[in-house]
Amino acid sequence: MEFVIFCTRFIVLVLLLTVSSPCKFIQSPMDFGPLKLLQSTTSASLDFGRIFFNSPSAVLRPQSPREISQLLNFLQTSSLSKVTVAARGAGHSIHGQAQALNGIVVEMDSLPTSIKIHKKGDGESGFSYADVSGGTLWVELLMESLKEGLSPRSWTDYLYLTIGGTLSNAGISGQTFKYGPQISNVLQLDVITGKGELVTCSPTRSSELFYAVLGGLGQFGIITSARILLQDAPQKVRWVRAFYDDFQKFIKDQELLISMADMVDYVEGFMVLNEQSLHSSSTAFPSQLGFIQQLQSGSSDVYYCIEFAVHYSSEKESNVDHVLEEISKKLNFMPNFIYSVQIPYLDFLNRVRAEEMSLRRRGLWDVSHPWLNMFVPRSGIIQFRDLLLETISPSTFEGPLLIYPILRDKWNSNTSAVLPESSPAGENILYIVGMLQSANPNTCSSKCLQGLLQKNRRLVEGATHPQIGAKQYLPHYTQEAQWRDHFGSSWDRFLVRKSEFDPLSILAPGQAIFNRKYQDSVNNYVI
Ligand SMILES: Cc1cc2nc3c(=O)[nH]c(=O)nc-3n(C[C@H](O)[C@H](O)[C@H](O)COP(=O)(O)OP(=O)(O)OC[C@H]3O[C@@H](n4cnc5c(N)ncnc54)[C@H](O)[C@@H]3O)c2cc1C
Ligand SMILES: *[C@@H]1O[C@H](CO)[C@@H](O)[C@H](O)[C@H]1NC(C)=O
Repeated sequence: MEFVIFCTRFIVLVLLLTVSSPCKFIQSPMDFGPLKLLQSTTSASLDFGRIFFNSPSAVLRPQSPREISQLLNFLQTSSLSKVTVAARGAGHSIHGQAQALNGIVVEMDSLPTSIKIHKKGDGESGFSYADVSGGTLWVELLMESLKEGLSPRSWTDYLYLTIGGTLSNAGISGQTFKYGPQISNVLQLDVITGKGELVTCSPTRSSELFYAVLGGLGQFGIITSARILLQDAPQKVRWVRAFYDDFQKFIKDQELLISMADMVDYVEGFMVLNEQSLHSSSTAFPSQLGFIQQLQSGSSDVYYCIEFAVHYSSEKESNVDHVLEEISKKLNFMPNFIYSVQIPYLDFLNRVRAEEMSLRRRGLWDVSHPWLNMFVPRSGIIQFRDLLLETISPSTFEGPLLIYPILRDKWNSNTSAVLPESSPAGENILYIVGMLQSANPNTCSSKCLQGLLQKNRRLVEGATHPQIGAKQYLPHYTQEAQWRDHFGSSWDRFLVRKSEFDPLSILAPGQAIFNRKYQDSVNNYVI
């Protein structure tokens, strides 16, 4: 099944609709008004994972949200169509989540970028926020808000991701313990549902759609605009790393740090598996010669590094040294293995960009990324660490392996985001473990890549077993039963939301949760 597209630069859109039989299509061109579909490009079938390469039949580069709405409206009312639609943000998914095999990819970067900053005190609002178009990159929002001395509160490690893309997942980083994920910092959304309806929604207005879309894996609508909460931006941060040879001490100190949210502004951590993992932890510091040998001559095979940061805010400006001293006194790192740098806030937030540039120079950015991210209950973190070390090959693991705690009560359970089922003991601490591995083409062939993916699947199986009770973040599953397990007690809600907002399952087919339905007659859905 496909479209036939008559493509000159300014084509008249002619859409040939498919019939139920997968290989034939109705030869009746439908004039589609001003909407132009373009021939598929390589980028529309490519993502950061470089594992899946599903080609769409056509690409839409919308100039306005209305064009997206027209497209979805059209597909809604045209019977006999099995065409799907995927919004593509920055295409930084791993498993083809923004791809649409034989469908239409909507490239969100073509929407005009719009960023409007509202400062506290302007108008009636008691806080600062930004209204920003859905295809905008977080780094663009940062640059614009910094001009007003403001900035979003909650981040991802990497900023060249779109607003709509991360809000469809969660958006997590070292600020999540303090402010919740990015989806906890949104005041309002403009969404085009799978039915083509343009809806402005918030916690008080069309709230079911608002919460469905946040963490909704693109299943309910396309985010064309978001209102993001802002705070006063600091000028500089003090960025600290402290090293551990003992996992229990490492997590104990991380948990202590996230309990001091009045002093600490960012907490992450990573495993030091080999020399490589120190270099690949974005900006390399400490860089003193001999540091690595010193670490390697120690008694442990695996080390751990806590990373935290303190903002130079106006209140703390003069006493960051004092704050740091207070904090370090309470920590149990290996004696003297603590290092810090002071850097501009922008450079701190944009630290992974430096790493990207370095990897690009070495031809190691556009490679396959068999990444795996898990939320692990605190009660299962030690068992998970053991399983992890048994499953991966620590000496050859290439890329960062992040571990840091977050707090469940900073997440709104009305959103579609999935965390481990809450424990009977009401445990509030969870761990995010990010296994951000690259398949270096010089040392890892396609067979080796398959091996890494196989190990990831084993790890997911072991970690999602009720004994550990972990959940995947940026989940990748292919069977309905797996999705049902993943969503657990929120599966029914997810289904209800789907039937309400995208009843024909047109949206985000690359997530492989639902099969496209089509109407054989007006109210008769066929799968
Ligand atoms: C180098 C790197 C670092 C990362 N670091 C972090 C991190 O620290 N924390 C974190 O949380 N994540 C991180 N991610 C993961 C990232 O958040 C997800 O991959 C996210 O999906 C990327 O956004 P995107 O704009 O590229 O989305 P895409 O990959 O383009 O899309 C993701 C999904 O969302 C849908 N979608 C896209 N735009 C919209 C929209 N406007 N409305 C509705 N649905 C839409 C797509 O159809 C697709 O299903 C990282 C990824 C990379 C490559
Ligand atoms: C969840 O949604 C319900 C219904 O809209 C609302 O009453 C409740 O306040 C919401 N909870 C939170 C934490 O936002």
